[in-house]
Amino acid sequence: MDSERQQSMRRRPRRLRTDGIRPLVSETTLSPQDLIAPVFVDATTDDRQPIESMPGHERVPVAEAVDRVEEVRETGVEAIILFGIPESKDETGSRAWADDGVVQRATRQITDETDAYVITDVCLCEYTSHGHCGVLEASAPEDAHVTVDNDRTLDLLGKIARSHASAGADMVAPSGMMDGMVDAIRRSLDGEGFEHVPVMSYAAKYESAFYGPFRDAADGAPAFGDRRHYQMDPANAREASREVSLDVEQGADVLMVKPALPYLDVIADVRREFDHPVAAYNVSGEYAMLHAAAEKGWLDLDAVARESLLSIKRAGADLILTYFAESVAEQL
Ligand code: PBG
Repeated sequence: MDSERQQSMRRRPRRLRTDGIRPLVSETTLSPQDLIAPVFVDATTDDRQPIESMPGHERVPVAEAVDRVEEVRETGVEAIILFGIPESKDETGSRAWADDGVVQRATRQITDETDAYVITDVCLCEYTSHGHCGVLEASAPEDAHVTVDNDRTLDLLGKIARSHASAGADMVAPSGMMDGMVDAIRRSLDGEGFEHVPVMSYAAKYESAFYGPFRDAADGAPAFGDRRHYQMDPANAREASREVSLDVEQGADVLMVKPALPYLDVIADVRREFDHPVAAYNVSGEYAMLHAAAEKGWLDLDAVARESLLSIKRAGADLILTYFAESVAEQL
């Protein structure tokens, strides 16, 4: 009995927890190079507009896009993902592929004047008058059962991606969860000489209540119904493998899981099953809730932000899209 105890007390994990050795045995590191900062460009304003539900974030006019990106780069973060708020919306979201659209103009300026790596979000929800991520089915009644016409939307996604690439986007990121979207975009890009532009697919994107603050920020909430006919059911993990393999077959270069913290199991599964780079989107609600608790004095914001991103990496993400990009990069 006694020797059994002695035996087990030979193993003392605490030996490896002294200040000197902790960094040597650390399994995961965070670096500003892992992070992608979301940037909102807004064609409806001449001034920066603070986003109330996302403290520290703003919608900036196109004229300030370059300044905004330089602020991000000063923290050591070199990659941004651009979201646009157009000057007007219509049924098909036609401002999304306009040559002089808000994202196209911002992309041109940013890529002309900075060395930032510019990723563009390819979706229709900020551009359609009804706020859905594609064109509606002709017969859809305006109620909760409304759904998006998948195949008609694919052509539009191809046009959007091509217009972003011709404005200079380094990478495109389709987020609409349409079946076949990666293939449609890949064909559209390759047909115009943009074979070199990678696609980061929002491959396993869940129908999540954590997107609330973003929908305020980007004015992209559905006017009726919800997105559960195209985004994934939070109950499903095995389905994520099927979703992701389809995107891999269609030529996706980077595989994204979204949201991040409530879906660490999915990140870990995708990491295990595929050898592509895995991205995770630490979404607006994940950001807002930590801020709200910190404002009350209940959490140490810098510490929980760092721990969140570290956990997302530990689960298997190589890159993280996060509203904490700048503040965490500054701490590193
Ligand atoms: C769709 C899109 C959304 C987000 C990123 N791209 C919103 C949605 O699907 O409703 C959410 C990001 C976040 O919550 O931070 N264009």
